[in-house]
Amino acid sequence: MDPLVWEWINFAVRWLHVVTAIAWIGSSFYFIHLDASLTKREGLPAGVSGDAWQVHGGGFYHMMKYTVAPVALPEKLTWFKWESYATWMSGFFLLCVLYYRGADLFLIDPAVMEMPVWAAIAVSAGSLVVGWYVYDRLCRSSLADSDLRLALVGFAFLVAAAFVFAHLFSGRGAMLQVGALIGTIMAANVFLVIIPNQKIVVGDLLAGRTPDPAYGRTAKQRSLHNNYLTLPVVFLMLSNHYPTSFGTRYNWVIVAVVIVMGAVIRHFFNSRHAGRGSPWWTWAVAAAGGGLVVWLASAGPREAVASATAGSTVDFAAVEEVVISRCSMCHAATPVWDGIAAPPRGVRLDTADEIRRHADPIRLQAVLSDAMPPGNITGITADERRLLSMWTGQGR
Ligand code: HEC
Repeated sequence: MDPLVWEWINFAVRWLHVVTAIAWIGSSFYFIHLDASLTKREGLPAGVSGDAWQVHGGGFYHMMKYTVAPVALPEKLTWFKWESYATWMSGFFLLCVLYYRGADLFLIDPAVMEMPVWAAIAVSAGSLVVGWYVYDRLCRSSLADSDLRLALVGFAFLVAAAFVFAHLFSGRGAMLQVGALIGTIMAANVFLVIIPNQKIVVGDLLAGRTPDPAYGRTAKQRSLHNNYLTLPVVFLMLSNHYPTSFGTRYNWVIVAVVIVMGAVIRHFFNSRHAGRGSPWWTWAVAAAGGGLVVWLASAGPREAVASATAGSTVDFAAVEEVVISRCSMCHAATPVWDGIAAPPRGVRLDTADEIRRHADPIRLQAVLSDAMPPGNITGITADERRLLSMWTGQGR
């Protein structure tokens, strides 16, 4: 198929993916907040654990929460599940369009590990299934008796996964793969645990049986995990636009720090909305984490690039030759690289003027990180990167 058509399929599916994700995360935040703001008081109907008043869009809403279920089930009941399913399905489709179809550019980096395209795809897709299985086993073990202990083991598991992915795939592919794994865990929590448990409870009620509260407890625990994972997963999905997040040596450590940052920020809002006070320390931890991430990223790409040495002058003709030979097959008015229809991101690097104009982006993509060339597919050498470093580090 024409690359132009793929480009538009990519755009359309990304549009869908972002919209469904907004709907999913939005409703998740909404319900967490609602749950936290419910107050218990005298005179509520039987089975109601609390109520809350809200005002929105010109009307007042009176929300009540039945802990297990109302005595009689209402005729019309809204289930919240399609936001999550649609987010996962569009996300997986995007993974196929971008990272599987373009595996040689975005998933595989021969300097990390050489593997054929089919193997990279099999490992990526397989690890989503295996990752979910391991997580689910952990949640079904006795670890689940303590939310905190389960969370710590779950965290260790995700960091281990990030470490493994960073040693199998390109930095960009690895970060996205961790995001895809977390997204899969979150959607599977809804599809395989939360909704089925809710259905069992509803079925019991319709049959006149008293539902086992364990179903609700389990669903609540999974829902709590989803809540704490929302901020990290969004970071990981956006990481591919920021080369120094994925294209630097400690990318998997950055993942670990970001999971902690996301969790403590959620914790702040969860506590505050529940009226349990505002744990301001969480912002200090998040800020320290942010500083740590920037510091980790400053270590640069796996293969260290020497920074510019003061006083040494760089011959621009040599720079031009490197860029023309390593970059311009894709970054040209008419790219010659198979499957690339137009200069990627509008960046042309095929004339001296264009190269000069793009010195800063070149530094970001090919010196401070090894994001470009993708998967080092054109085989830029350490010496050539050093030359770019010297040139982009000087006043020019
Ligand atoms: C095999 C094709 C290919 C080669 C070779 C290549 N690039 Fe890229 N480049 C891309 C693609 C594809 C993108 C868009 C990436 C994306 O979708 O995030 C891109 C994006 C960029 C961007 C814009 C990033 C942004 O988000 O604005 C810059 C700058 C860049 N490349 C610089 C370089 C430099 C410098 C080199 C050579 C050292 C190079 N590229 C080699 C394919 C290539």
